[in-house]
Amino acid sequence: MAASIFAAVPRAPPVAVFKLTADFREDGDARKVNLGVGAYRTDEGQPWVLPVVRKVEQMIANDASLNHEYLPILGLPEFRANASRIALGDDSPAIKENRIGSVQSLGGTGALRIGAEFLRRWYNGNNNTATPVYISSPSWENHNSVFVDAGFKDIRTYHYWDAAKRGLDLHGLLDDMEKAPEFSIFILHACAHNPTGTDPTPDEWKQIAAVMKRRFLFPFFDSAYQGFASGSLDKDAWAVRYFVSEGFELFCAQSFSKNFGLYNERVGNLTVVGKDADNVQRVLSQMEKIVRTTWSNPPSQGARIVATTLASPQLFAEWKDNVKTMADRVLLMRSELRSRLESLGTPGTWNHITEQIGMFSFTGLNPKQVEYMIKEKHIYLMASGRINMCGLTTKNLDYVAKSIHEAVTKIQ
Ligand SMILES: Cc1ncc(COP(=O)(O)O)c(C=O)c1O
Repeated sequence: MAASIFAAVPRAPPVAVFKLTADFREDGDARKVNLGVGAYRTDEGQPWVLPVVRKVEQMIANDASLNHEYLPILGLPEFRANASRIALGDDSPAIKENRIGSVQSLGGTGALRIGAEFLRRWYNGNNNTATPVYISSPSWENHNSVFVDAGFKDIRTYHYWDAAKRGLDLHGLLDDMEKAPEFSIFILHACAHNPTGTDPTPDEWKQIAAVMKRRFLFPFFDSAYQGFASGSLDKDAWAVRYFVSEGFELFCAQSFSKNFGLYNERVGNLTVVGKDADNVQRVLSQMEKIVRTTWSNPPSQGARIVATTLASPQLFAEWKDNVKTMADRVLLMRSELRSRLESLGTPGTWNHITEQIGMFSFTGLNPKQVEYMIKEKHIYLMASGRINMCGLTTKNLDYVAKSIHEAVTKIQ
């Protein structure tokens, strides 16, 4: 028989975070802990369907006026408008001036991908694949691949994490911006930076915006954790809103996977802020073409849940409360872990555990220590040392703290 036409296809490596979860599942050790997963877990270690989501799902199921017809290519209008509103704020000048538009997307990833594809086709010239795209170092690993797959050839990193001080390398970041070619694209984490859990302060954001404005750099915000950083939707949107108030044209990719717990519904939104309505409409018309050949039109369930919740003051209040429940549990796990490590006398400083925000913490464990945690302790975390704070529970905190202590004292 002839050789397969696929004989020359190389096997791609598995995606790290999914491989980690698969390894965790196969591990038969009773003490095992999964700190690798990128999703919220309750104190019982279980996924959480937000009570407001359950309620709205039932409302949708009982609403005989709804059907399964195709949505418009750009998505459900009430979802798009409400999603952009919580990113930009009720009083946004851009909304009032009618110079925003949006695209419902398949999760935050879909929003990034549609935005990236549009920029490659139309930004800084036509099909300019040479425009530099800057991604923070480190970043969510998919940023790089999304922009590579959209056709960009010059993907660069900008300084972000200062390992020695376990905090933001503002100087390095601003320096990279000063040196970046004009019109470069910068992917900025709107809040709760993944994986470092370290965000610029408002004052630092102001410095960043000033350089970006002067150097004509394009801000592409990725907002995957609104509400998770501080527990407040408004505080977590501060940077995006500040940039809008400074007159930037920008994109903002939103994910509702984490803050609504709608991971598999694939619901996201790409907000476009432009100089005027005409610009935005032309951009949206091109995005519509991109969506048409990508997923043609988006799924409705997640968008309906989010739209219904955001449109009703009462459901909105319930949602904010649910988000706060998640954020507060993360904060509690941070302080519990830190106090355990400090009372064990674990070498090093551990204040970064409580200073970092959002779902993740960058522990500072090196790859060998991570390997020890996985092999010897059955505690799964990313090779970068990133842990998901929601993987911690009142039951496993002591075990995890003791294991980190052992890893740090035994392995250099
Ligand atoms: C920084 C960041 N951006 C985007 C996403 C994508 O989220 P979604 O699952 O909605 O595509 C994630 C998910 O982990 C993320 O951490």
